[in-house]
Amino acid sequence: MSTVVFPVVKPTSTFASIFARTINVNYFHVYFPYFRLIFGVAVDLLGNFFKVKVVSSSFYNTTSTENKPKVIHRVFLLPSGIIKSMVTKRQKQILDFIRKFIAKNDYSPTLEEIKDHFGLSSVATIHEHLQKLKESGHLNRPENQPRSINIVGHETMVKIPLLGTIAAGQPIEAIEVPETITIPTGKFGEYSNYYALRVEGNSMIDDGIYDGDVVVIRKQPTAENGQTVVAIVNDNEATLKKIYREKNGFRLQPANPTLFPIYTKELEIRGIVVRIIRNLERQTEGEKAADRKLQRRVDFSWDFNGAKTKPYTHGLHTYPAMFIPQVARRLLLTYSKKGDTVCDIFCGSGTALVESRLLGRNSYGIDLNPLAIFLAKTKIKPINPKILWREYLKLLSRVKEIKNNEIKKPKFKNLEFWFKDKTITELAKIKKAIKEVKNKDVQNFLLVAFSEIVRKASNTKNGEFKLVRMKSDDLEKYNPNVLEIFKKRVEMSIKGMEEYHKDVDRNTLAKAIYGDSSKDNGIKENSIDCIVTSPPYGDSRTTVAYGQFSRLSAQWIDIFDDPDSAPGVDNELLGGRASKTLVHSLSSEYLNGALEQIAKKDEARAKDVLSFYIGLNACLKQAYRILKPGKHFCLVIGNRLVKQVRIPTDFIIAELGEKIGFTCEDIFVRNIPGKRMPIKTSPTNIVGELEDTMTKESVVVLRKTRRASYIS
Ligand SMILES: C[S@@+](CC[C@H](N)C(=O)[O-])C[C@H]1O[C@@H](n2cnc3c(N)ncnc32)[C@H](O)[C@@H]1O
Repeated sequence: MSTVVFPVVKPTSTFASIFARTINVNYFHVYFPYFRLIFGVAVDLLGNFFKVKVVSSSFYNTTSTENKPKVIHRVFLLPSGIIKSMVTKRQKQILDFIRKFIAKNDYSPTLEEIKDHFGLSSVATIHEHLQKLKESGHLNRPENQPRSINIVGHETMVKIPLLGTIAAGQPIEAIEVPETITIPTGKFGEYSNYYALRVEGNSMIDDGIYDGDVVVIRKQPTAENGQTVVAIVNDNEATLKKIYREKNGFRLQPANPTLFPIYTKELEIRGIVVRIIRNLERQTEGEKAADRKLQRRVDFSWDFNGAKTKPYTHGLHTYPAMFIPQVARRLLLTYSKKGDTVCDIFCGSGTALVESRLLGRNSYGIDLNPLAIFLAKTKIKPINPKILWREYLKLLSRVKEIKNNEIKKPKFKNLEFWFKDKTITELAKIKKAIKEVKNKDVQNFLLVAFSEIVRKASNTKNGEFKLVRMKSDDLEKYNPNVLEIFKKRVEMSIKGMEEYHKDVDRNTLAKAIYGDSSKDNGIKENSIDCIVTSPPYGDSRTTVAYGQFSRLSAQWIDIFDDPDSAPGVDNELLGGRASKTLVHSLSSEYLNGALEQIAKKDEARAKDVLSFYIGLNACLKQAYRILKPGKHFCLVIGNRLVKQVRIPTDFIIAELGEKIGFTCEDIFVRNIPGKRMPIKTSPTNIVGELEDTMTKESVVVLRKTRRASYIS
């Protein structure tokens, strides 16, 4: 037994005894006049005898009452079991993460995944922690085997197929794509001989098998009298019963006195029950279902208050209601793994796509705002920063050479209303120089920086997402130095690209698609491993006007063939066109409740609201189509207020989603310290009529779980 000695300190006896109590240690205050060596041997022997370890020992001199110096030795002895369980805070966090990861995925995380979860830059630190945990007996980690971390005390689990549902006298209702369940390996032999079935009905309650339980079946064609079997009778009817051989055939006996046995001459045995997995949750869910009230929990750990939200290419361009990257990152880490293909169906400026590439996930993004797609495409594309610096410096000299008579001013309605003459000239020079850059990726990168400064240099009010002109007093004084603003912006952007270029996982693919997420955008059915998205909170007219925000930039950088079509974007987005009637077929009690209250105050507004949810429902259906079965769909959404009626969009999504075939697994609420949302929005664009927007948002976690009703 080794001796652990803390640095020698001179604690006061009060401190020593408090410390000892705190960590639950046996504390000895020993007066020991002899030298350390003998004492050390004595303590070690003591340790062996009592199965303890010395966790602290210290010598010091003191003065006795007789004024003679004495050597005092203080010893802290701890039962060896407790020593083993002493881990640092970080090691505990790592153990917890591994435990949860294994529980969720049935395999252990890689060093890379642990590193990513804790936001560390190197795996070496994780390796060190794991080594310490291994040495202290908390985990096993066979060398050179991927995903081989085992938490000590946890059995190794294996997956077996959950083939479907079995009910008395009914055919097995197979799950379209079989799910799996996890069982401990130790208890079973060759686990490919096992499968599981979910029980429906009460025919076996006296044997402790209840509705909703899962039974593990060992495949075998024969059974002994009294064993519980899966038997196929009458050609294709599967039933779970106790089997008894009778004179002329078999008796299948239910374990429920209210039911009669089945007598049959022939049957086929498909296996015997070897284990029952009780589904306590199912019972409580059943109770909840009777009085269906969805629940949200508050999770402050998702606030990310004070976190740096513009690392990498996230800071290239502002966009309304952007994800903070930390939220996208954590959702991706929780619900997808490296190598997966993920999708953001309302990708906006591409935050989730950038995070996906950094985390080793392939990704698709869809958005119906063309400027957003341009931004996303540029943000996900790594460019060598050396090339950027070189081209940028060349561009600066070129801008200075361009004469006023060489420039071409853009042509769109109200150009002079939104820009001063001098600003137009300066912007046009920069644009001309950018357009001369040969490398298309570099050109786009510079155009994104340019797009960002177009709004800054315009006559629009600072900090507004909607197009609101400055007050005339402010406007008179406003004289932006366009080139300086541009330089600052490009230099910041190149720094962001430097980080991104270094850390992006080049084995990943990312694609930003201009399209309407309520329609099929060519993404294959059952092909996506995880969807992480943040839908608009409501229609663009009365909440965030993405199109309006993007208009001037889009017009300057030639996003549209006809720049005057730019104002049409908002009408195309979710809820862009009000519904003509309040009659609908959406299956959501929460939505109906909200619509009813709003309609009492303002029927036209209720129709606006309805149109948004009709569109959203179509998007949920498309999401369901592209998602693989069993995979997660995470939506970050705010519950907006219309006419003083709070619309619980999170619950509405849960209800609509469940109707489509998702299961709602979680709804939690986070504070929005950093979300780029106006504090107040104007619901009607009428000055002075304001609604408060959210300081909180909900994260709804859905899972595609629908069962099909055929036998495989
Ligand atoms: C909350 S924003 C997403 C912001 C994004 N998470 C980011 O970090 O930039 C919602 C997006 O939904 C888009 N949108 C609205 N209706 C759409 C539709 N029918 N199909 C695709 N995108 C749509 C808007 O253009 C907007 O970019």
